[in-house]
Amino acid sequence: MGETVDGHGSAQAASPAGVFAPTAAGVPDRMRAWTTRGDGIDRLTSASVPIPVPGPTEVLVKISAVSLNYRDLLVVGGVDHWSPTEPVVPVSDGVGTVVTVGAGVTRWRPGDRVSAGFLPRWRSGPLTRETYVSPVGGPVNRGMLAEYVLIEEDEAVCSSHSLDEVHAATLPIAGVTAWHAVGHRSRVRPGETVLVHGTGGVSLFAAQLTLALGATPIVTSSSDEKIGKLHALGIAETINYRRTPDIAAEVLRKTAVEGVDHVIETVGGDNLNRSLEAVKVGGSISFIGLIAGRAANINVYQFVTKNVTVHGIESGSLEMLGELAAFVDDHGVTPVIDSVYPVEQIQDALRHLELGKHFGKIVITMPGAAETSL
Ligand SMILES: NC(=O)c1ccc[n+]([C@@H]2O[C@H](COP(=O)([O-])OP(=O)(O)OC[C@H]3O[C@@H](n4cnc5c(N)ncnc54)[C@H](OP(=O)(O)O)[C@@H]3O)[C@@H](O)[C@H]2O)c1
Repeated sequence: MGETVDGHGSAQAASPAGVFAPTAAGVPDRMRAWTTRGDGIDRLTSASVPIPVPGPTEVLVKISAVSLNYRDLLVVGGVDHWSPTEPVVPVSDGVGTVVTVGAGVTRWRPGDRVSAGFLPRWRSGPLTRETYVSPVGGPVNRGMLAEYVLIEEDEAVCSSHSLDEVHAATLPIAGVTAWHAVGHRSRVRPGETVLVHGTGGVSLFAAQLTLALGATPIVTSSSDEKIGKLHALGIAETINYRRTPDIAAEVLRKTAVEGVDHVIETVGGDNLNRSLEAVKVGGSISFIGLIAGRAANINVYQFVTKNVTVHGIESGSLEMLGELAAFVDDHGVTPVIDSVYPVEQIQDALRHLELGKHFGKIVITMPGAAETSL
C-alpha cells in the first residue's frame, strides 16, 4: 500500500480533461459513481461522470453487484492508513459483465462475467513487496462502487458460473481470504477439525469451505439466533462465546482433549490466546482479522511448546480467486447473504454492516442487475 494510483486505477469520478473518448454502441456516455473522502458514511456522495473508454489492454465492466467488507467501513470512515488522501471510489468486492474491450485485449470479450482481484498485481505464487500494492477499494486505488469500472485485462478473473450476481459479488475479498487460509495455508484435509471465530463474512466462508472439504468446522458466535442459522447450514458444532467464554475448554471437550487441527483467527488481539489454547500440538493458526485489536498480550510459551504454525493471511492472489470460483462451482457452495440493498441505499447498507448484526454478506445491486433469490 502507500503507492500512488496508477493510470487505469484512478478515481473515475475525478476525470481529467481529454481522458474520455466517445463510447461504443450500446454503452451510455455517463454513469453514476460514488466517492468518499474518508469523512464518514453520511458524506459518501454520488455524481454523474463520463464513462471511461478502455485503453488498449483494458476492459470496461458494467458492475451488477458489490458486497461490503469491514474494510469498506475503514476506508469510508477514514481510519488510520485506510483514509483516502483524495476522493476515491470505495468498495473492494464486486462482479460485472464486460461491455467493451481495448484494441489489444485477447482474454475477454463482451458478455464475459468477471471480478477484479483485490490486489491486482498479485497474480499467483507468494505475496511480495512488489505485488502488495494498489488494493481495490481505496485508499489509493479505485473501487467497485460505480456503474462501470475499467479493469486491466490481466487483473480480471473469470467469475463463478454457478452463482448469480449477488452471490458472485462476495468472492473477491471475503471468499478468497477464507480460501487462502483454508485451502492453501492451513491445507485443511477431510476428517480434520477447524475452529472458526464468529460469523462474519470471512468466517462463514471459512466454515462452508471447511465443510465442503470434508472437515468439521467448530464455529463460535455471540448469538443463539446466528447459531440456529449455522445449524441450518449444516454446521453442527457451535459455541456461544458469550455464554461459554472459555472457548478453549469447550473445544478441548469437543475434540477429546486433542484440540483442533486448525484455527481461523478472524478476531485477533488477545483472542489469539484462546486460539493457542484450542489448537492441537502441531496445529496451525491462520491469522486474518484484527477486530479485537492490532496488538495483544500473547502467551508465547504456547507457540513453542505446541509447535504451532501461524500463517499471516493477506486476502489472496488472482489465481486463488479463480480457484475459489471453480471450487464453489464444483462443490455447490452458496455464499451466505444477509441482505441486499439497491445502490441508492448504500448508506443504510454500510450502517447495517457497522451494527455488526448481519449473518452473511451485505450486497448492493447496481441498476439493471437481475433479480436474485436468497
Ligand atoms: N487479512 C485479510 O486479507 C482480511 C480480509 C478480509 C477481512 N479481514 C479482517 O477479518 C476480520 C473479519 O472481517 P469480516 O469482513 O468477516 O467481518 P464482519 O463480517 O464484520 O464480521 C464480524 C463478526 O466477528 C465476530 N466477532 C466479533 N468479536 C468477536 C469475538 N470476540 N469473538 C468471536 N467472534 C467475534 C462477530 O460474530 P458473531 O456476531 O457471530 O458473534 C461479528 O459478526 C476483520 O478484522 C477484517 O478486517 C482481513
